[in-house]
Amino acid sequence: EKKGGPIVDTQQLVGDDLKDLKNNIRNLLGSGHPMLDTVSKYYFQADGKHIRPLIILLIAQATSLAPKKVHVSIKDSYEEIDMPISELSDFYIPTLHNNGSDPSSTSRTNTAATGAVNPIYTPRIHAPDNTIILPSQRRLGEIVEMIHTASLLHDDVIDMADKRRNLLSANESFGNKMAVLGGDFLLARASIALARLRNHEVTELISTVIANLVEGEFMQLRNGQVENGRNRNGSMTTFEYYMEKTYMKTASLISKSCRSSAVLGGATDEVCDIAYTYGKNIGLAFQLVDDMLDFTVTSDEFGKPAGADLKLGLATAPVLFAWEEYPELGKLIKRNFDQEGDVEVAWGLVLKSQGLAQTRKLAQSHCQKAISALSQLPDSQAKTALIQLTEKVLDRKK
Ligand code: FPP
Ligand code: MG
Ligand code: MG
Repeated sequence: EKKGGPIVDTQQLVGDDLKDLKNNIRNLLGSGHPMLDTVSKYYFQADGKHIRPLIILLIAQATSLAPKKVHVSIKDSYEEIDMPISELSDFYIPTLHNNGSDPSSTSRTNTAATGAVNPIYTPRIHAPDNTIILPSQRRLGEIVEMIHTASLLHDDVIDMADKRRNLLSANESFGNKMAVLGGDFLLARASIALARLRNHEVTELISTVIANLVEGEFMQLRNGQVENGRNRNGSMTTFEYYMEKTYMKTASLISKSCRSSAVLGGATDEVCDIAYTYGKNIGLAFQLVDDMLDFTVTSDEFGKPAGADLKLGLATAPVLFAWEEYPELGKLIKRNFDQEGDVEVAWGLVLKSQGLAQTRKLAQSHCQKAISALSQLPDSQAKTALIQLTEKVLDRKK
């Protein structure tokens, strides 16, 4: 059900802002230790989808025309945002920075030295609708991408994944210990950049996201602990538990970063709520589709292991829906598919059932909620782009 009107080119809207993202992240990540430097930057060499920063930037634009609670000056705290991190490090070995090159040769340090305006300081006003992206909102996109990547480094250790973004996973390349520490380092540097936004509400939101990611991953570890369709403590059905876990591991990051983007723009509480509701629903839809693709695409298409969830003992939405049709799935779910042949039996039942179609339908209903939240914002190209992006979530293949 395509909406009328031409397809908005997100590249044209926020391409310039996204173009600097990888470089800016690299500048936030330099470590004096060459190996730590390599591991923490490793996943940024592949072409990630940058879906989270893209959404954050489009939300920045789409909320920039909406009512404001606070006037945010576009010149606010540029220096604080962009201060070279190395200057604050306790133990910093300049000669090892950037593989041995002189750190003063980086554009960031040059900027500080010469007082020239680094492009990250320049707010971009976009014709034709005069929407604005603030430097702080661009930095938020970078922080969120770093936190997301940290969670992937840790996740690949937990899942023992051998592949990510069509590369050898970090744990495969460097071992578990270095992969975990690389993730920790990313989180730490993201936290410094977050502190420099000097916005307590955003600091609280994004810190909560980090806790939620861990909570989601923890809930998933205990996924199989179900009794008669209820989770063992009896407070939630298995499906409610799965949705809560899905919010924690995926939608919390997107929803709270959408809200943060609106907060940084000085939006009213009502507008911040709209941004949050959009992010929550597109995040839930995104993960539901991910759990569906695990059954329907190959590892090569996915760029990461496919058919992995059952092997990891995880009963995702397609399995939980299939369970309603095939009650015999219950005992397999309960024992985390750990007996010989369980994975194959469950796989067959899921494909035979309506589970995948029902998962898609549920994802679609969350896409609809996301779109109806957005429709309350004033019209802009970014708003149209966000709606079109939401429609594409259901068709994605990777
Ligand atoms: C991918 O899920 C993983 C996540 C969405 C979050 C993982 C969170 C942690 C490991 C907790 C630690 C958090 C931080 C911030 C360091 P998946 O395994 O279902 O997806 P995949 O197929 O992409 O691996
Ligand atoms: Mg994984
Ligand atoms: Mg995982």
